[in-house]
Amino acid sequence: MSRKTVLAFDFLLLCLLTVLCRSSSLHHHHDHRHDTRRYAVSPPKTLFVFGDSYADTGNTPIGYSPRGSSLAAWKVPYGETFPGKPSGRFSDGHVLTDFVANYFGLTSPVPYNFRKVGGSNLKFGINFAIGGTGVFETLVPLPNMTVQIDTFKQLIDGGLYTEADLQSSVALVTLSGNDYNSYLTKNGPFLGLPAYITKAVAQLVVNIKRIHDLGVKKVAVAGLQPLGCLPQITYTAGFQKCNGTINALVLFHNRLLWTAVAALNIHTEDSSAFIPVDLYDAFLLAFKGKSGTMFANPLQPCCIGVNASYSCRDVDSTGLKLYELCPDPSATFFWDQFHPTQQGWKAVSTLLASTFQKL
Ligand SMILES: *[C@@H]1O[C@H](CO)[C@@H](O)[C@H](O)[C@H]1NC(C)=O
Ligand SMILES: *[C@@H]1O[C@H](CO)[C@@H](O)[C@H](O)[C@H]1NC(C)=O
Ligand SMILES: *[C@@H]1O[C@H](CO)[C@@H](O)[C@H](O)[C@H]1NC(C)=O
Repeated sequence: MSRKTVLAFDFLLLCLLTVLCRSSSLHHHHDHRHDTRRYAVSPPKTLFVFGDSYADTGNTPIGYSPRGSSLAAWKVPYGETFPGKPSGRFSDGHVLTDFVANYFGLTSPVPYNFRKVGGSNLKFGINFAIGGTGVFETLVPLPNMTVQIDTFKQLIDGGLYTEADLQSSVALVTLSGNDYNSYLTKNGPFLGLPAYITKAVAQLVVNIKRIHDLGVKKVAVAGLQPLGCLPQITYTAGFQKCNGTINALVLFHNRLLWTAVAALNIHTEDSSAFIPVDLYDAFLLAFKGKSGTMFANPLQPCCIGVNASYSCRDVDSTGLKLYELCPDPSATFFWDQFHPTQQGWKAVSTLLASTFQKL
């Protein structure tokens, strides 16, 4: 066969393998979130998730919400858009995990907390991510990422997932800054941050390698979002401007991470086993309306304490709200001081479609 014929033959074979090949090559689909037809082989069947509140869908203990902490996912008004009441998600509705699962046509993985009632949905995977945590100890006494992976390993050792299940699975890993918040809150010196960032990224790299070594085919690892743009930081200046000093440190974290990920890929048989998820660029592009959704002031959150002493979810002894809530969370990018709204995550996920496609 000539080279051209070989290519044509390969394409034909791919088409035969892909039942819906014809429709994918003839039509353009605008909603990529439901479009699993791009796959020449097959999309992932199972999603495992590790990390913090950016990915958690219900693992923080119900009722546990120490004052001053950001653990409010089981408090009103969290979950008001979806499912209509608090569900353990740190948003008014769906979070990153839900959008990634939906992209592959999967049911969002069962939170580890609810595994006993997960039933047949366990085949879609498990979400081990817990709000407030990091790679090291943080301000909350909840399982760090190492412990989350230990738990995953125990389930594999117990036979819940076979090697074949793992071969068709992917992992999503988020690390959104709790280590750094904790470091600064515990009076770690600002000038010591670069060394601490280097340590945290090294631990993150150990963790993602371990997830892959356990048999998970692809591991998507999130970079840091622009922390200097979080409402927690920008509120002193009226939500007008991101803090460049903080974002420079974020970019340092991300540069270290992407370099390490590239090195991991070089030393792994599947040279695209580790997929960088660039939340930094996705957030900044979403702020500019590049996802197709314009946010009037993308830095202004929907839900915020009446003053710096309070946060979204605080009430006084008579039940009076000590926070202000916007009328329409789908019009704002941020939900609270740290977390995007469902609409914010939707915008970010739209911008990350080409990244998810690599999984
Ligand atoms: C994670 O938590 C466990 C249990 O508290 C602890 O033993 C371990 O040192 C922590 N891991 C890291 C990397 O800090
Ligand atoms: C940015 O954040 C740093 C660290 O918290 C702070 O020292 C600095 O004053 C902030 N810059 C601006 C312009 O607010
Ligand atoms: C914050 O608001 C509460 C309730 O309105 C008020 O009692 C308190 O004094 C305020 N605190 C500050 C620091 O402004």
